[in-house]
Amino acid sequence: MKRREFTRSMLAASAAAALPLPQPVRAAGTARTAPLKVNGARLNDHLTKLSEFGKNPQGGVSRVAYNDADKASRPFLMQLMRDAKLDVSVDAAGNLVGKRAGSDASLKPILFGSHTDSVPFGGNFDGDVGSLGAIEVAQTLSEQHVTTRHPLEVVIWQNEEGGLWGSHAATAVLGESDFAITNSSGRSVREGIAFLGGDPDHLERTRRAKGSIAAYLELHIEQGGVLEKEHLDIGVVEGIVGIHRWDVTVTGFQNHAGTTAMADRHDAMLAAARFVDAVNRVITSEPGRQVGTVGKLAVFPNTPNVVPGKVECTLEVRDLDAKKIDAMFLKIEAEAKKIGAMNGTTFAFKQVLDNVPAPTAPAIRAMIAAAAADLGLTHKTMPSGAGHDAQDVAQIGPVGMIFVPSVGGISHAPNEYSKPQDITNGANVLLNALLKLDAAP
Ligand code: GLV
Ligand code: MN
Ligand code: MN
Repeated sequence: MKRREFTRSMLAASAAAALPLPQPVRAAGTARTAPLKVNGARLNDHLTKLSEFGKNPQGGVSRVAYNDADKASRPFLMQLMRDAKLDVSVDAAGNLVGKRAGSDASLKPILFGSHTDSVPFGGNFDGDVGSLGAIEVAQTLSEQHVTTRHPLEVVIWQNEEGGLWGSHAATAVLGESDFAITNSSGRSVREGIAFLGGDPDHLERTRRAKGSIAAYLELHIEQGGVLEKEHLDIGVVEGIVGIHRWDVTVTGFQNHAGTTAMADRHDAMLAAARFVDAVNRVITSEPGRQVGTVGKLAVFPNTPNVVPGKVECTLEVRDLDAKKIDAMFLKIEAEAKKIGAMNGTTFAFKQVLDNVPAPTAPAIRAMIAAAAADLGLTHKTMPSGAGHDAQDVAQIGPVGMIFVPSVGGISHAPNEYSKPQDITNGANVLLNALLKLDAAP
């Protein structure tokens, strides 16, 4: 299931590079001297309220896409969008879309948003900051009576954590194997889209063609510790890593743990343990930012007095360079063969995710940096090691991403935290980068 070619995102990036550099902000026909600002207290209050949906005793949320909490949060989100004077709908892919007219109907829309689903036992900021930040920007524009030239669309993509399925369904064609992917909600992508009010049989009604948008902006927490360590306010994202994921099955032979001599065992667990170590060795064997993870593992029959006959686990490899991911995988596969030969077990790899790396548009990066500077905020250009819906949207138009610091670099965990002022800063940069984009001829 090759999703798309890396060259396509490179094309998107070079097309975007042709965008003009930032122009002076001019909104509603009025020259502005000071940058517009969002209501930071309101934004942070909305974040606290959203955290009630799927709240868990660990202090975070388990608002996994397609679970009851995910669905229950959507009327709250839609009401916030309506309060921001957005025209709200659920698209065929189950994404929430809030539209706002521009003054020039011939212009393509500028999209901005993020996601509100979480990983199991996740935190209160991943995706939520960008989603509620986008709504806050729309509300500020409404309150300040700013009419942009471009139509605007706030989009809250569904099921980001399970593999960017909402943005993928809106920008590419899903195959049956995609529809069949399930997450810990127990629902498949097909079932989940219907559960959220979309229509999986008519995704063509939602699909956005290449070149159909002016741009996409996404605000997000960094999810790493670079900005905090370097005492910086804003990250200007240069590109989003590609993510390749495999389901791995290790097959051995199930047998009695007391009577099977050590030399006679085909222990799938032992082979899997060696595999976990091999992944780490291969990934760290060369310089670079590549990462590799075995994050999930199930042992069969998973009982103390039986030599395990089967292990199912996952493998994920990420890098900004798709060729590097491919090369790393070939090395890991070769290691798995050697490990299997050591104790008579076999490894089977089934690729289940192939998100291509996505560079952001240089002209949009410049606008984000200029917006941060206008606001007196420090910033640096940095890659994103996490996946984001922006990488799917990069297949159809130029994208930009804004990071704000994550305390302790913690994410995908209940104690994920970003400071209210940092969140407000990020939303202000989103607002002003959006205005710069809108003003660009
Ligand atoms: C999403 O957050 C991912 O990077 O997996
Ligand atoms: Mn996210
Ligand atoms: Mn995430």
